[in-house]
Parts: sequence; C-alpha cells; structure tokens
Amino acid sequence: MKRIVILISGRGSNMQAVLEAKPKAAIAAVISNNPAAKGLQIAHDAGVDTKVVDHRNYPDRTSFDRALADTITAYRPDLIVLAGFMRILTEEFIERFSGRIMNIHPSLLPAFPGLDTHRRAIDEGVKLHGCTVHFVTPALDRGPIVIQAAVPVLPDDDEERLAARVLEQEHTIYAQAIRWFLDGQLAIEGNRVKLSAGCQYTGAMISPLLR
Ligand code: GRF
Repeated sequence: MKRIVILISGRGSNMQAVLEAKPKAAIAAVISNNPAAKGLQIAHDAGVDTKVVDHRNYPDRTSFDRALADTITAYRPDLIVLAGFMRILTEEFIERFSGRIMNIHPSLLPAFPGLDTHRRAIDEGVKLHGCTVHFVTPALDRGPIVIQAAVPVLPDDDEERLAARVLEQEHTIYAQAIRWFLDGQLAIEGNRVKLSAGCQYTGAMISPLLR
C-alpha cells in the first residue's frame, strides 16, 4: 500500500478532508512545524501518528528543512501532501522528494501566488477565483497544475465569505488529486500534468452567468 505524509501548520481542514476521503493509502504521519497547530489534535484523534519539527529550534532554513526531510523519510512516503503548510521549502528539500510533493493554493494559479489571495482577488475585481492543487517545484506556487476549481466572486463578498466558498472546493479537489496520484493516473511532462483517465469536460465556467 502506498504511503502519505501530510504537512500542516495550522487549522488542518484540508488535512481532515483528505483523511475523511479515505484514500487507498496509509496516512503514515501528520507533521507540523507549529506545535500549536489545531490540526495535530484532529490527526491524533483520527489515530494518525503526529510529529512536530519546530522551525524555531533551527538556526536557518537549510537545517530545518534537513531535519524535516529526515523525519519525513523515516515514514517512507510515496507522496507528501502540503495542507496549509506555511513554510517556504528549500530547493534541496524539494529535489529530495521531486515529483512527490503536492500543495494546495487558494487561487487560480498562476494568478495570485503568495499570501492574501482572497483579498487580492477582491481588490482586482476578478469574477472567478478558486483554488489549485499542483506539484511543488523550487519556483514558489509555480509547479505543474493537477486540478483547479473556480468559484464566482460575488458583489457582497468580503475575504471571509470568499475564503469559505473557496475552501469548500479545496476539500473536494485535494482528495481527487490524491486519488489520481495513488491510481498512477498523473504524469508530469514539463510544466504540465497529463491525466491518463482523461476527464474531458469541455463546457465553460462563466461568472456572472449569462441569461
Ligand atoms: C488553505 O486555504 C490552503 O489553501 C492554504 O492555507 C489554508 C490552510 O487551511 N495553503 P487548512 O489548515 O487546511 O484549514
């Protein structure tokens, strides 16, 4: 059976959604850089092994990433799932697990990489916003895209309402991306991900709706 390690820094709702989706894999561990991450308790209650590698105990990014990578390696994962993991990873770390790290980002990449994506989407007046699951490469928020979900940005939206609408989709698409990975249906070709199952949806997503 394939093995997954999930990395979190906080609330852990994406991690919880992945656990609840019951992927055909062993969730070997949930690891956090933040000892106060709420998600650690959720993982523990679900019977998953948890670990903390606190970045504040390391003098620099390289030594933290090495310690984190060694902790992860002990669990022999086939896939590392970043679920609200709020640390930028070194190239050395990413190369060590190349093609085996996925991240979820709360925007339709390549729009709005980085932080505060919902506020920036509202400020820019975009009509569609959303979320992206992608493989992690050294270029921040630029790795090959596996799946995206779009939601409308409504006139009365504030950051919180928009974030909640996006988060609901995050929980759906992350589980799907992981299923495809575990079933061996994803191939990375350059900066593109090819899906062998061929999920061909040819319709359009338009917001506001046409009448
Ligand atoms: C999510 O919006 C995720 O896309 C972003 O950070 C947030 C984490 O939320 N990277 P949670 O910890 O999964 O609830």
